[in-house]
Amino acid sequence: MTETFLDKAYDTTGTEATRELYTSWAKTYEAEVGENGYATPGRCAEALRAVTTDFSAPILDFGCGTGLSGLALSLAGFQIIDGTDLTQDMLDQAAEKRLYRTLTQADPDAPFPVQKGNYSVISAIGVIGAGAAPLDVFDMLLNALDRGGKFVFSFNDHTLEDPAYEAKVVQCVERGSAVILSQSYGDHLPGLNMKSKVYVLEKT
Ligand SMILES: C[S@@+](CC[C@H](N)C(=O)[O-])C[C@H]1O[C@@H](n2cnc3c(N)ncnc32)[C@H](O)[C@@H]1O
Repeated sequence: MTETFLDKAYDTTGTEATRELYTSWAKTYEAEVGENGYATPGRCAEALRAVTTDFSAPILDFGCGTGLSGLALSLAGFQIIDGTDLTQDMLDQAAEKRLYRTLTQADPDAPFPVQKGNYSVISAIGVIGAGAAPLDVFDMLLNALDRGGKFVFSFNDHTLEDPAYEAKVVQCVERGSAVILSQSYGDHLPGLNMKSKVYVLEKT
């Protein structure tokens, strides 16, 4: 049987290999995740909507990919969304959706260009963990929020197999740097019987 990009994704580590994976995948990513019922963007957007009063506050959609996460946020009512991603070919697909205010390529080797407090909401939907960005991205994004800022993100089943990811959330809460506004375990790629955990944190 031919190996799909989803088969390859969860064994991919390191910036270069990750960028190569998504560069090759960019044109068929939406078809492959779509045929497996990719549910996490809609779940994240809904979880964020449930704790939001100001829908005009700009959101940074970190690891926006082809824009499925931005589309879900937009459908949930969020009005201003900036996207950033490691992979230019994914950003090119996102640009075609014409829903992002800005789209920029992320450089993991350079200092994170977002200043603390530039955004009061940051999303990392399907981004942190197996097949995408490393765990230190979690701290980088949480650090970029001011007190009261919200961080919505997901960990898929492959990521949850490594206890370090959930331990990071627990540690943030125990240290008093964030509170959990919501957490829910549900469908990720139901066609593959995969689930994900969606969190909304508030920086404290
Ligand atoms: C599974 S896709 C998710 C894309 C989109 N958020 C969605 O829900 O469809 C993961 C994305 O994370 C990006 N990515 C991986 N590592 C990254 C990093 N260190 N910084 C920024 N983006 C990264 C990849 O290029 C890819 O577009």
